Amino acid sequence: MVALKDFFASDFLLGAAFDGPIPDRLNPAEQALFLQQFNTLTAENCLKPGRVQPEEGRFTFQDADTLADFARTHHLHMVGHTLLWHNNCPEWFFKDGEKQASRELVLKRLRAHIHAVVGRYKGTIAGWDVCNEVIADNEKYLRPSHWLETIGDDFVAQAFRFAHEADPNVLLHYNDYDNENPIKRDKTLRLLRSLREAGCRVDAVGLQGHFLLDKVPFGDVEDAIEIYAREGYQVMITELDLDVLPFVGPEAEITQPLSPEQLAPLLLRQAEQYAKLFSLFRKHRDKITRVTFWNPHDGRSWRNNWPTKGRTNHPLLFDRELRPKAAFYAVTGSS
Ligand code: XIL
Repeated sequence: MVALKDFFASDFLLGAAFDGPIPDRLNPAEQALFLQQFNTLTAENCLKPGRVQPEEGRFTFQDADTLADFARTHHLHMVGHTLLWHNNCPEWFFKDGEKQASRELVLKRLRAHIHAVVGRYKGTIAGWDVCNEVIADNEKYLRPSHWLETIGDDFVAQAFRFAHEADPNVLLHYNDYDNENPIKRDKTLRLLRSLREAGCRVDAVGLQGHFLLDKVPFGDVEDAIEIYAREGYQVMITELDLDVLPFVGPEAEITQPLSPEQLAPLLLRQAEQYAKLFSLFRKHRDKITRVTFWNPHDGRSWRNNWPTKGRTNHPLLFDRELRPKAAFYAVTGSS
């Protein structure tokens, strides 16, 4: 079997997200698959603020250290995810006793957090998703969050500034979902221009790429890659997967696994759509520097629990038995 990292070696880095080389997260067979196929890893959860600093000043780096050791040992390009997000962020950041904390206090805590976390992995983490998902999905510009409420519009600029201070050599990414959609893309461009005007360095725009079967917005993805690149950013596909189950409505609630007869045609369509995506990525290899799947194989996919828990989903290139799927062969043009 050809390895993805070799097949795309002259195009872009190829990776997957997981949380640590520990048996309940990635057992030895899964680690072997990972190392055979990928050359970059993203920390799935263990670097999120709620995991590394659950209480002010109490840092819990054990899981992230284990992941960083794995990256160092195997010479992997490690991506830190994420320094600022509206999710997985403890309340203490925004509280001063019973009151809401002042802008100054929240900024002081954000700076301390970023310096501690980025500083610790200097030289190991190659790039950071500095801010994740700050653009609103509705008609608003920025997503309402405690960050926006306590600091104001410049919270994104401040986070990028602190990350640059903490490690001037690390790549700084802005990461979001649906940011190929023209409305969200334009708001992202507005944000990026404001960051540039504020003197902040941003190296890459991350398109998460959580797609749904038969609804991959190929045209928007291609336009977005071209437009972000034209603005001077590297493009990274950061959390790729292709969900084959219904996403909304009562059908999405079904937890019964699909029968082989139900699954077979879906996997063929998935293979075609993955192949089309990768030929698009390849066409734009001068603009795309990394493609990362959100998890190494179907059995470890977050899509088994999102948008509803306890489903048996099939969004990746390897199945639960770690075997390459039709999508793998379609993407690599092998059989
Ligand atoms: C997900 C993880 O995969 C899950 O294990 C966790 O329970 C919730 O977060 N976009 C992101 C990621 O930027 O951080 C999310 O990761 C998936 C969606």
